[in-house]
Amino acid sequence: MEYLTGFGNHFATEAVPGALPVGRNSPQRPAFGLYAEQFSTTAFTAPRAENRRSWLYRLRPAASHPPFRPLDAAHRLATAPLERGPVDPNRLRWSALLLPEQPTDWLEGLVTYGANGDVAAGAGIGVHLYAANRSMERRAVQFSDGELLIVPQMGTLTLLTEMGRMEVPPGHIALIPRGLRFAVQLDGPSRGYVCENYGAPFRLPDLGPIGSNGLANPRDFETPAAWFEDLEGEYQLVQKFQGHLWHTTLGHSPFDVAAWHGNSAPLRYDLARFNTIGTVSFDHPDPSIFTVLTSPSDTPGTANCDFVIFPPRWMVAEDTFRPPWFHRNVMSEFMGLIHGEYDAKQGPKDGKGGFEPGGASLHNQMNGHGPDAASTRSAMEAELAPVKLENTLAFMFESRWVIAPSKTALSLAELQRDYDDCWGGFEKARLP
Ligand SMILES: [Fe+2]
Repeated sequence: MEYLTGFGNHFATEAVPGALPVGRNSPQRPAFGLYAEQFSTTAFTAPRAENRRSWLYRLRPAASHPPFRPLDAAHRLATAPLERGPVDPNRLRWSALLLPEQPTDWLEGLVTYGANGDVAAGAGIGVHLYAANRSMERRAVQFSDGELLIVPQMGTLTLLTEMGRMEVPPGHIALIPRGLRFAVQLDGPSRGYVCENYGAPFRLPDLGPIGSNGLANPRDFETPAAWFEDLEGEYQLVQKFQGHLWHTTLGHSPFDVAAWHGNSAPLRYDLARFNTIGTVSFDHPDPSIFTVLTSPSDTPGTANCDFVIFPPRWMVAEDTFRPPWFHRNVMSEFMGLIHGEYDAKQGPKDGKGGFEPGGASLHNQMNGHGPDAASTRSAMEAELAPVKLENTLAFMFESRWVIAPSKTALSLAELQRDYDDCWGGFEKARLP
């Protein structure tokens, strides 16, 4: 598969030589009788630095389809605002999602753990996990409700999209623009996390005094080159629209774009390329130093969603409590673990429970969290030599609004009902 590099570049790519018009977007007669179509993921009048749109040149217009009808199939996707009722303020943690026994594709395998904001207002996020075991066959989906940030934990995803194909193994992430049609192929049992972003598209964070390099560098993002399939026959197209699933039938593959140009496009990123920055003296910076991508809200510095990772790194701080500190936060935090161990939680030694790869935790607004008693004790007793933290890759979706857990998530067998116990057993401080 072929990729173009850079974040938010104005790419130009053609799978058929001569398919891409030069010097104009919408010629009277595009080459080969292709149809020109603009794909807008920001308003026409968004400021230039934020404006995103692409031009697609395809075998038939995407508009050509029969009406969408409600999709009756059972699913476990939910959308904000979730059904009314008290929002559970408790700290929640789930073991890894069980892999399905029945044939289940990526879309069928999605289950919503929580959501915030309001999809109709274009604010907030949905947080989903997936566990699946078969590829989507002659079936594609478009999420009109939001951009998708996909974080595989097990199994390599091959994403077929209107704008090209990407391979996304665990340790990589993928970003699919709102409304882009795509299908997911698997190489075996697969599991991972999805942030459905109803708000402003993810972008790279500003770097302030860090300077012009560091964290996720723009050149390391990869966007697929144009690719298409000229495939006739029935093809189901599912759409998530205002929280409901709809479907229609096409007489051909939706992946029929022979060329495209523009800056609204899918991409992937290898998290191992993240240039991790931390203290070389004492204390450690706020975890915002680990921000890969941010979706701003209308309040400066207060994100609709930050995507933050906790990658392998050297710990060198002197006279410092090195694990993530105890915290109560106005922002709400949903965490996942891609592999290894997280340095704030030791977990039971029998390999079950704890914060395990494929598991998740939710710490909502102003609710205390931090290292468990065992991690705290060892961090306070440790000899502070430089230590390389390895075999770890955790991440967080952090949002300005409370992430309401879904009813489904609260009823999952994977929910660890004893999570609070990990903050038991602290010795009381002794005053003189
Ligand atoms: Fe926190």
